[in-house]
Order: sequence, then structure tokens, then C-alpha cells
Amino acid sequence: MAHHLLIQLSDVHLTRAGELAPGVDPAANLASALALMEDEGLAPDVVLVTGDLANEGDEPSYRDLAAALSASRALMGATILYVPGNHDRRGPFRTVLLGGAPDGGPINQVVWHGGLRLVALDSTVPGEDHGHLDDETIAFLADALADPAPEGSIVVLHHPPQPSPIAAMAALRLANADGLARAIEGTDVRAVVCGHYHHAGASRLGAVPVWTGPATSFVADAAHTGEIRLLRGGAMTRIDVDDEGVVASVIPVGAGRHGVGGRHRRGESAVRPARGAGRPRGYSGSWTTGTTRSSSRSGSTRWSPCA
Ligand SMILES: [Fe+2]
Repeated sequence: MAHHLLIQLSDVHLTRAGELAPGVDPAANLASALALMEDEGLAPDVVLVTGDLANEGDEPSYRDLAAALSASRALMGATILYVPGNHDRRGPFRTVLLGGAPDGGPINQVVWHGGLRLVALDSTVPGEDHGHLDDETIAFLADALADPAPEGSIVVLHHPPQPSPIAAMAALRLANADGLARAIEGTDVRAVVCGHYHHAGASRLGAVPVWTGPATSFVADAAHTGEIRLLRGGAMTRIDVDDEGVVASVIPVGAGRHGVGGRHRRGESAVRPARGAGRPRGYSGSWTTGTTRSSSRSGSTRWSPCA
């Protein structure tokens, strides 16, 4: 079995308005991710862009995203798989990113890399933030998986089937996880890959592992479960697929990437943290549908949800 390198860029939240909050710059974080891939020679076979691509679901932001990815030397030759999230709008998404007519039906896709099959599902509910797979999408999935792929399948969607420890996020999960579980049971699906929560997480749906990738744009602090506290920084995921399995590894980007400038040697501390280091500096917020609701600066900024 061949080795396949997938890079997951999730919840990019591009906006033409600039920063989403002080120090939260989605475009800069995306640029950081692309530059990092180029600098490190990370040349993905497939890029999974797993939802909330544009904060406002607008055509100009989709064009900016497509331009940034197509200009990246690291992505030359890579297959880009755009998957919609709750911030995206199907019409502009189809028109700009998929070159199709702007109809409002679910955006379900199958792409291949060698013998590996990737099935991308539209889990969005127009006008809502939670996820749901409608009958058409479940039927699409069943049809796509009807025959085993030579190297198995990976299912990709925005909304995770498992809850987040952050209650407001958990309320926005995939509502019919049981339908997804039934559709993949007994098939060749090797993993389910999601985004949406803005924090990394691993779980299982039946016998199939589920990876929830972090966002490139900002972090939702899983240590703070009462409300959604946003932290600066972001991350992408590299997913290595071969005959040993499917391995997801998080790579910080943008403000989340702070090197220590040295090599760690056994028996000595490479980094001496400053007083207070390790305490999150970020934003706390309540989460509502759609876009940024308010912001204030008192050590934290309140945000509306985009999960
Ligand atoms: Fe998001």
C-alpha cells in the first residue's frame, strides 16, 4: 500500500474585514500554514479543507482562499477537497470553488488518490450551525461505499459525530451521528475526519476512529467548558495513511507557533518558562449563530460562535 500524505486545513474563516478579534487574523494564519509547508517540504497529496472556509460565506473570500492555495508551491499537484461548514453558503461555494452552478443542494463529493477513496459529505443545514446528514447525503455515502476501495476509504465532513467538552460546541454537533454510524458500519472506512470544534479531539464511531482537527484560524479552549473561550493561534493536521494505519498529527501555525530556538538535550531544561507562562491568553465568548457579535477588551474578548 502506498503512503498518502493528507493535510487538513479546517475552519479557515477567511474574511475581508481583517482580524476577527485582536490578534486573530485568519488570513495570516493560513499564510503561515502554507509557508510552513513550503519551508518544511511538506507536499501533501490531498488537502482537506474541512469547512468554515469563509467567515461570511462570501464569494470574495472564497476567491481569496482559492488564490492562496493555487499560488502555494507546496500544494502544486495536490488535490484540494473543499468541504462546506456552517459558515459557508452553498451557492457561492459551488460557484467559486467547484466551478458549478449555484444550486442549493448538498455538496457531496468523492475523490481518489491512488487506491485511497475520500468521501466528502455536506453536513450543513442552511441557516443553522448544527450538523445533519440528510437522506440524499446518506444515500450518496452508501452508494460511494458500495464496493471496497483498494486502500480503503476516509469520510470527511465538517460536524463531528461526538460531543465537544464545551457545552455550546456540543450543541452544534452532528445531530444524526447514528445515521452516519449505520452507513459506515461494515464498510472499508478507515477513519472519519471532521473540523468545526476549533480544538483537536479523537473518538470513535462504532469501530471507526474519528479525528476532529483543530482550526487554522483560532483555538476554542477545551479547558474552559462553560462558554467558548477563544485563544489566539491555530493548527493544521497532517494525516499519514499507509498500511500501518491512519495517523493524525497536529502542527501549530500562525500565532500558535512559537519555537524555542534550540535543541533539547537530555537532562536539561531547554526552556525556562516565564512567570505565568502556560496560562492561556485569549478570548472568552458566548456562541451564537453566524458572525462576530461583539468584542470588548479586558483581557478577554467576547465572541459569537463560528464553530
Ligand atoms: Fe468554525
